[in-house]
Amino acid sequence: MGNTFIINGFGGERKLRGEVKITGAKNAALKAIAATVLFGDKVTLENIPEIDDVFRMFELLKGMGAEVEHRKAGSYSVVVPRNLATELPFEIAKRMRASIVFTGPILARFGEVSFPHPGGCLIGSRPVDLFMEGFEKMGAKVALKDNKYTVVAKNGLKGTEFFLKNQSVTVTETFMMAAVCAKGTTVIKNAAMEPEIVDLAQFLIKCGAKITGAGTPTITIKGGKLLVGKGHPYKTMPDRIDAGSFLILGALAAKELRITNCNPIHLEAVIESLRTAGVDVETKKTEIIVRAPATIKPIDIKTHEYPGFPTDLQAPMTVFLTQADGESKVFETIFEGRLNFTEALAAMGAQITMMDPHRVLVRGKSELRGRKLTSPDLRAGLAFVIAAIVAKGESVIHNVDTTIDRGYEDVDNRLRAIGVDIKRIDQSEF
Ligand code: UD1
Repeated sequence: MGNTFIINGFGGERKLRGEVKITGAKNAALKAIAATVLFGDKVTLENIPEIDDVFRMFELLKGMGAEVEHRKAGSYSVVVPRNLATELPFEIAKRMRASIVFTGPILARFGEVSFPHPGGCLIGSRPVDLFMEGFEKMGAKVALKDNKYTVVAKNGLKGTEFFLKNQSVTVTETFMMAAVCAKGTTVIKNAAMEPEIVDLAQFLIKCGAKITGAGTPTITIKGGKLLVGKGHPYKTMPDRIDAGSFLILGALAAKELRITNCNPIHLEAVIESLRTAGVDVETKKTEIIVRAPATIKPIDIKTHEYPGFPTDLQAPMTVFLTQADGESKVFETIFEGRLNFTEALAAMGAQITMMDPHRVLVRGKSELRGRKLTSPDLRAGLAFVIAAIVAKGESVIHNVDTTIDRGYEDVDNRLRAIGVDIKRIDQSEF
C-alpha cells in the first residue's frame, strides 16, 4: 500500500535545468506550531510547508482542543483555549518525534502534561533523558508508567540554569518555550545554535518574550507571561535541508539549477564542501546557482551541530561522493544508525565499506543502477531519490508517503519541473 515513486535515471548525464523554489522550513514550522500554546490570543503562521509532519502537529493541537483554521495554502491561524487538554493524543504523538516540543509549553502554561515515548525516524536510539532532567530541574515531577510520561508542576515551572550534555535542537527549543511561561530567569548553556532556534526565538521575542542569546551557546529567558499574537504573524524561514538537497542533486546532475527563496548563509558548510569537490556554486542573497562539474574530487565529511555539516544532509552527500573520483570518508557523529541506508546504495553499485556504525568509506566513481528501494526514513528517502536520478535505468522507491512526504512538499512535481522523469503511483488505488 502507500505511495511509490518510479524514477528513470539520467545514467550520470547532467541534464537538470531550471528553477526550484524552496519551501518554509519543516524544523522551524513544527516548533512555531508548538509555540502557539504560549499565546493568550489568536496567532497566525505563514509560509508553513504543506507536509505530513505539519498536518500531524496541527492534528495534535486540534485533538487537545485548539481551534486551527487553514486560511489558504501555507497559512494557518490558531486559538488555544484556556482549558486545553494536557494529554498529547497518543497515536499521533507516538509516531512523531517532534511532538515532544509541545511538552514544554503545555507544562509551563497548564502545570501538567502527559505523552507517550515519541517515535520518528529510524536513525538510532533517540533518548528523552535531557527533557526529563530539565523538567525536574524546573521543579516538575516526572513519572513513567506503561510507556506514558506524566509530568506535573502544580505551582508552575521555575526558572533555572542548565547545561545540556548534548547540544540538542529540540531540547533547546522545548526549554526556551517552557521558560517563556516559567517564573524567573532560565539560562540554557551548551544550547544548540541551529538557525531554526534563532527563527523561533525571533518570533517569540516579537510577541513579547524576553530572550537573549539564541544562536549562541548560552540562551537567557526571562519568563512570566503569555505572548500576544495580534499584529505579529510568524513567517517560517526557508528550509535549509530542502535547499541543500536540491543543491547536492544539482551538483551531480545539473546543467544549471537555480535554487530560489533560500538563505545560502545557512548552508555554508555544504557549499564549502561542494566547492572543494570542484562544484561550481554561485550564491546571491536568496538564491544559489549550481552546475555539475565534469569530474568530482573526493572529500571527507563529518556531521556536526550547526554551523557544521548538517546530519540531515549526510545521506544526500554520501550519494554525491559515490560519483567522486577516489576515496572519501563520511563520519556521522550525531546519530548512530544513520548510515544504514548505505547498504541499499551498495546494492545500486556503489562501493561503500562500513568501518563502524558512525563511519563509512566511499570509493568512486561508481556507476549506479536503478533498483527497487524502500525508503527507511525521511532524509535517506530523499537520498534514494537523488541516487535514482543519477542511476542508469528505472528505480522504484516504496514508502514515499510515510517517509519523504513527511518532510518535503510536493517533491515529485518540483523535480519534474526541472527535468526529472518521476511518477507517483498511489498503490492504494489498485
Ligand atoms: C533535530 C531535527 C533533526 C536533526 C537533528 C540534529 C527537528 C524536528 N529535528 O532533531 O532533523 O537531524 O535535530 O540536527 O528539529 N539527545 C539525548 N537526549 C535527549 C535528546 C537528544 O541524548 O533527551 C541526543 C540525541 O540522541 C542526539 C543528539 O542529542 O545524539 C542531538 O539530537 P537532537 O538535536 O536532539 O535531535 P532532534 O532535536 O531530535
